[in-house]
Amino acid sequence: MNNLTNKRILLGVSGSIAAYKSPDIVRRLQDLGAEVRVIITTGGREFVSELSLQTISKNKVHDNLWDKEAELAMGHIELAKWADAVIIAPASANTIARLCHGKADDLLSTVILATNASVLIAPSMNQQMFASKAIKENLKILNNRGVVTINPGFGEQACGDVGEGRLAEPEEIAKQVANMFSDSALSGRKVLITIGGTIEAIDPVRYISNHSSGKMGMALAHACIQAGAETTLIIGSISVEIEKRAEVIYITSANEMFNAVMKKIENQDLFISCAAVADFRPTKISHNKIKKDGKLAVIELTKNKDILESVCKLKNKPVCIGFAAETENFLANARAKLKNKKCDAIILNDISNSDIGLNSDENEVHFISQEKTEKIDKSSKQIIAEKIIKKVTKYFF
Ligand SMILES: Cc1cc2nc3c(=O)[nH]c(=O)nc-3n(C[C@H](O)[C@H](O)[C@H](O)COP(=O)(O)O)c2cc1C
Repeated sequence: MNNLTNKRILLGVSGSIAAYKSPDIVRRLQDLGAEVRVIITTGGREFVSELSLQTISKNKVHDNLWDKEAELAMGHIELAKWADAVIIAPASANTIARLCHGKADDLLSTVILATNASVLIAPSMNQQMFASKAIKENLKILNNRGVVTINPGFGEQACGDVGEGRLAEPEEIAKQVANMFSDSALSGRKVLITIGGTIEAIDPVRYISNHSSGKMGMALAHACIQAGAETTLIIGSISVEIEKRAEVIYITSANEMFNAVMKKIENQDLFISCAAVADFRPTKISHNKIKKDGKLAVIELTKNKDILESVCKLKNKPVCIGFAAETENFLANARAKLKNKKCDAIILNDISNSDIGLNSDENEVHFISQEKTEKIDKSSKQIIAEKIIKKVTKYFF
């Protein structure tokens, strides 16, 4: 189980001789599924090449608080917010002392002050330095503030001394970072989500579609990824930014969405049908643009296959969650949908209210399972998504 899947790890490399091991730390974190970005201190640059770290992390290495281009977008704050965890490995005696005093005189120390992510440090120094009162007291202060120390090992050191102070092994460092996330509710699970509206062609330029923006589905994608799930999105017509950490499959019509879901459904643990799939499609698609003075007066429609119902009928079906967008008889219609489609839960949306539901930034839903109906009060779609995923993990995993 890769329990750093989808996690964003910021690695700080400071001026210890063991900095030459930092590319290997990047690798070990990536092996566990993490995306890694690196900040290097002035001291760190003396011991390892930025080019190595850039090549292995596949990201630009950040080395300067005064980078005018990066700071146009407040680069240090962006990095602090980006990280799910920050690990300083190796952590030099000097960097530890600066963190201890809350200094903000270089990029790494400033980011540490500006982040609310978990911070871990892996000290690495000469055994006499590590045994010093100053280091011991500094580490104690940092630990009391919630910083986690990854203890150094005992053995022969670069300077020839033998003792405690060697950087912990890269594999051990990655493992301890991963342990921080081991209670991620969907860690190791696979989730498939359909998002957005489908487009049903009438002729090469005209189509039937709906007002779905994809906001709710993308918020769910984000919540699943934050909970550690390997997440795949099948996306129709949307007007929202795509969650970059997910695998994405693009489709246009309901038929294409059906085929994409069926191709991908095996081995999924959770299927969330959040797309606004057109119930009907034009029976015939005209190859040529229909002329306005032509004979067509009526568009004949054919019913599309029901994707959620088809997934619920599969022999080894995943946990299936559907959405019901209703304008009347809300609870009764949603409960009927739950029963008829035999899914595990339905999220009911009142789309008659334009403040919530399709295209709006907020939502208010009911979570309806076989056992109970629970209201999730009006809130941003992201908060609603997180509450839905919490309920799904609590009831079904
Ligand atoms: C050859 C050499 C090796 C060093 N190795 C270490 C070390 O392993 N651990 C440490 O804490 N400092 C070590 N230092 C001292 C730091 O590099 C120095 O304190 C530096 O200012 C740290 O800067 P930084 O913490 O901003 O990266 C070493 C210095 C030199 C010249």
